[in-house]
Amino acid sequence: MADTQHITAAGNEISASFVAAKKQSDITEAKLNADPGKFTMLTGDRPTGRLHLGHYFGSIRERVNMQNKGVHTNIVIADYQVITDRDTTEHIGDNVLNMVLDYMAAGIDPAKTMMFTHSAVPAENQLMLPFLSLVTEAELHRNPTVKSEMEASGHALTGLLLTYPVHQACDILFCKANVVPIGKDNLPHVEITRTIARRFNERYAKKNPVFPEPAAILSDAPEIPGLDGRKMSKSYGNSIMLGATAEETAKLIKKSPTDSERRITFDPINRPQVSALLTTAGLVTDRDPAEIAAEIGDAGAGALKQYVIKSVNEFLAPHRERRAELAKDMDSIRDVIHDGNKRANAVAEQTLAEVRDAMGMKY
Ligand code: TRP
Repeated sequence: MADTQHITAAGNEISASFVAAKKQSDITEAKLNADPGKFTMLTGDRPTGRLHLGHYFGSIRERVNMQNKGVHTNIVIADYQVITDRDTTEHIGDNVLNMVLDYMAAGIDPAKTMMFTHSAVPAENQLMLPFLSLVTEAELHRNPTVKSEMEASGHALTGLLLTYPVHQACDILFCKANVVPIGKDNLPHVEITRTIARRFNERYAKKNPVFPEPAAILSDAPEIPGLDGRKMSKSYGNSIMLGATAEETAKLIKKSPTDSERRITFDPINRPQVSALLTTAGLVTDRDPAEIAAEIGDAGAGALKQYVIKSVNEFLAPHRERRAELAKDMDSIRDVIHDGNKRANAVAEQTLAEVRDAMGMKY
């Protein structure tokens, strides 16, 4: 069936399947808010660089909220996923440490949230073998995110890129997560995770199901555009890094492109660049971008940029202060990862034991 397209007020195209997923996600969120302690959340990021404002508003803020509500929260730093679409692990150790710094500066508490890396949890990775037996090659090839990532990479499709959604199922299921906050790109991966959980239980664990069928939670935050109005991406140099200095941030915002119309208006379709600046300012000040536009009006792009610089730097100042404080003791950041990995190993060993048991592979 064709996926009908809708256009939102902000000019984004959304599909009927997204609308359905969002509805489902709202139901899940309502259940979670009613009884947070009953939920286990897992989500994560690839350590490909520094975290930026898009990560903060799109996911990190919500993770902190869930953690503080009493949801069992887990974050995977998906280091094996880095090599799905590139042939280097350059800077990976540094990226992992910096991610932990940003998570913690944003309010993730390692005593409450388990943070771990793929590569340090062998029993989690071992789930990949039984899980791969539960999906067909055709199902793997049908994943739209894998297809577009392969095209963007300019590489031939590797075995890991083709199967990484199954690896993501290992991330989610080893700790029996029942909620997975993600962006819409990752919806197909949650879908295959549900399929794997269902098939595993049907095939091997009918009487005593091992895995829950996890539900996706889609972020409510509007997708934050890069400073130039394009998608926020490291390769475009259009993102505001959480850990950048105030000066670096000011420089980046100053050089962002605008248009030749002096009067500032919020019009994402016809004026994507000016509107990206307004959206950014709106998010960090919790104001309506159109109201900011009206306030700046004929003062023009220079005044708008000054406003964005001031509001972004004010918003990020406490984060940056906490980050700098934490960064004084990198050994303790390493300890956080070691401890998270240790806990993840214990959880993964336990789940793998249940899997072996269900499969009769106990000798
Ligand atoms: N694929 C996710 C991304 O690139 C990162 C990720 C890895 C993840 N494992 C996960 C997200 C498990 C949610 C659940 O953004």
